[in-house]
Amino acid sequence: MYNKHLSWILSLSIAAFGMSCTKHTEEATASDDIEKIIAGMTLEEKVGQMTNLTLATIATEVDSTVVVDTARLNNVIVKRHVGSIQNVLTHAYTLDEWHAIIEPIQKLTLEKTRHKIPFLYCIDAVHGTNYVYGATLFPHNIGLAATRNRALVKEAGAITAIQTRAAGIRYNFAPVLDVGRNQQWSRFGETFGEDAYLVTEMGKASIQGFEGGDVSKPQHVAACMKHFIGYSVPQNGKDRAPAYIPEIVLREYFLPSFRSAVKQGTHTLMVNSAEINGTPVHASKYLLTDVLRNELGFKGVVITDWLDILKLKERHQVAATHKDAVYLAVNAGIDMCIVPFDFSFTDDLIALVKEGRISEERINESVRRIIQLKKDLGLFEHPYLEPEAVAGFSKPAYSQTALQLARESVTLLKNEKSVLPLSDKQRVLVTGPFANTLSELHGAWSYSWQGNVEHLYPDSLNTVAEVFKKDAPSNSIFNLAAWSKSTPLNKAALLQTARTADVIVVCAGEAAYAETPGNIPDLAFDSSQVEVIKELAKTGKPIVLVLLEGRPRIIREIEPYCSAVVMAYWPGSQGAQAIYDVLYGKYNPSGKLPFTYPRYSGTLITYDHKLLDEAVEIVEPYQYYYEFKPQYPFGHGLSYTTFEYSPIRISSDTLRGSDSLTVTVTITNTGKVDGQEVVELYTRDLVASITPSVKRLRAFDKINLKAGESKTIDFILTKDDLAFTNEELKTVTEPGAFEILIAANKILFYYK
Ligand code: BGC
Repeated sequence: MYNKHLSWILSLSIAAFGMSCTKHTEEATASDDIEKIIAGMTLEEKVGQMTNLTLATIATEVDSTVVVDTARLNNVIVKRHVGSIQNVLTHAYTLDEWHAIIEPIQKLTLEKTRHKIPFLYCIDAVHGTNYVYGATLFPHNIGLAATRNRALVKEAGAITAIQTRAAGIRYNFAPVLDVGRNQQWSRFGETFGEDAYLVTEMGKASIQGFEGGDVSKPQHVAACMKHFIGYSVPQNGKDRAPAYIPEIVLREYFLPSFRSAVKQGTHTLMVNSAEINGTPVHASKYLLTDVLRNELGFKGVVITDWLDILKLKERHQVAATHKDAVYLAVNAGIDMCIVPFDFSFTDDLIALVKEGRISEERINESVRRIIQLKKDLGLFEHPYLEPEAVAGFSKPAYSQTALQLARESVTLLKNEKSVLPLSDKQRVLVTGPFANTLSELHGAWSYSWQGNVEHLYPDSLNTVAEVFKKDAPSNSIFNLAAWSKSTPLNKAALLQTARTADVIVVCAGEAAYAETPGNIPDLAFDSSQVEVIKELAKTGKPIVLVLLEGRPRIIREIEPYCSAVVMAYWPGSQGAQAIYDVLYGKYNPSGKLPFTYPRYSGTLITYDHKLLDEAVEIVEPYQYYYEFKPQYPFGHGLSYTTFEYSPIRISSDTLRGSDSLTVTVTITNTGKVDGQEVVELYTRDLVASITPSVKRLRAFDKINLKAGESKTIDFILTKDDLAFTNEELKTVTEPGAFEILIAANKILFYYK
């Protein structure tokens, strides 16, 4: 292990710095026509393909409308040969506005450039097509993971692809495959949670939806698995901060989601902006070439994140000049650079090739991959807007999918004395800072980058208060002016209204944010909200706390005052309706936490921790007992019905070699209402050469059960499901005893 570590660090060493870039073991395969194009291209044309700029380089906003500047556009496309542009200026556009931006760029490219390599527009459509008005916005990934519903997650990906392509955009910077193992990180809500298997499965479903096995079709787009790798565990909890990840941990928890996506044929990958063990990932030849290309076999396009080559010099300080930074990143293995404001990358890369520090063959490798991507996307055959794509943009079924996903994501964390579901006879006060906002239902990347520009949200969308007004007009009460996001608290007025209610629904949590602006010093819940909730509790009325948040803020202090706690995450455009439906029992909640909800900011332990994480010393020195008491565990989520699990049955008590083991369980809905249940299978390795986790999720399924109904499920396990990364960094399954855990039951078996 020591040597591997050393080689990783050395990948950035002075020795590597001086090496030529000519040796790349992975040869992109491309057809003759691509080779013919490359053979005729000048160096400047090639580097232009590797340059990705932001829309601001060619356009400005006049009265909130985008105006493309013809002179600047000509310079970018014709003179500097740029092959792709991305992003918005400040906010989302309508379909027509998008067409008006993209079509002329394509026309110019095809009419005025020598090789007519089509132009490619790229966007972040991370929870639906969030930069196109009229598109459907789904829950963020953290909520999607709570649904445990692979089919619906795939459907959300497919709808996103249709709506993105309808705008003329064929490249989506999604999904995030980072594993959310630091809850404080401001992009936690963009992850599929803390478990490597769950992230892998949800990521796979999402990519299937985006790419659909054929990205040339007008219903699909190229996906971008991001951010390779280790972005999600900044040591200080802040965005783009250094991570320290031993390679054994990197391989065990952070590599599997990417390995699986590469195997799936995902077209592109974006690099982690930050650094691991002191090496910025953009400069890591070990990670970007040895691991990603040579070991995982990735053949697609590697794109940098925003400004990240410049940051090798400015922020990471591993390069003395910008040119050295370009050298490091291209040598490490990047194909395309989100520069995104100027031609610094372009100019320095051209100079590096002219000086002989980077070979033209190395440039050809990247250009080959980029042209291949454009070819796969059908751009050579159908470069302009596809009528078929536009025709599919708007269908009522899309919001139905968004509603169902939002409903299935909502996770009922506490329901004391069955305060929920609410009844039509109760007078329900709907309050809280986020009772009447759309920003906090949507979170990051919603019509604007931060998602916090309330006036940008379409009028057609409803806040929680608006849904209550619409669906429960006679028994809902409000005093929205007394406690809202934008007006000062009127405590007396609020308490007066509260006293007239039977139940108080408080919509609280975090104001919307994205990326670095979402940095926080710890996970403390907003203290002003805590105070008001405590005051409301004094009225003696039951409180239902609805949490709108992208990460778990600590509720230890207020939880005892709340009869029910409902985690809604960032549920998207149908979020308010979904919350209403769950609160009133129109939908029986089935969401399961995709992370461990911590009780303390200083104790951020994932469910798959080591036994030693649980050790508590008692009275006598060295006398331990074991305790793990998060606020709510991973996989937690209540229902309005009850489910009973049969004992676990296995096809044999011994799994041999490469055979498989069938694990069977019967689940019965023993309550009075229909429901959906997530069945999760965990394993525990009883003895291993690397301390085993207390348990690991290995399989899950989601089933519908009518009241009184039973269903039997089979899970198939193989030795791969029991494997882990050993001291030599190999993936192994060691013989010995294992337990299978499903709900409260367990069973022992052996692997030989
Ligand atoms: C984010 C990426 C995103 C990129 C392009 C960056 O700030 O880290 O996730 O894809 O911007 O918009």
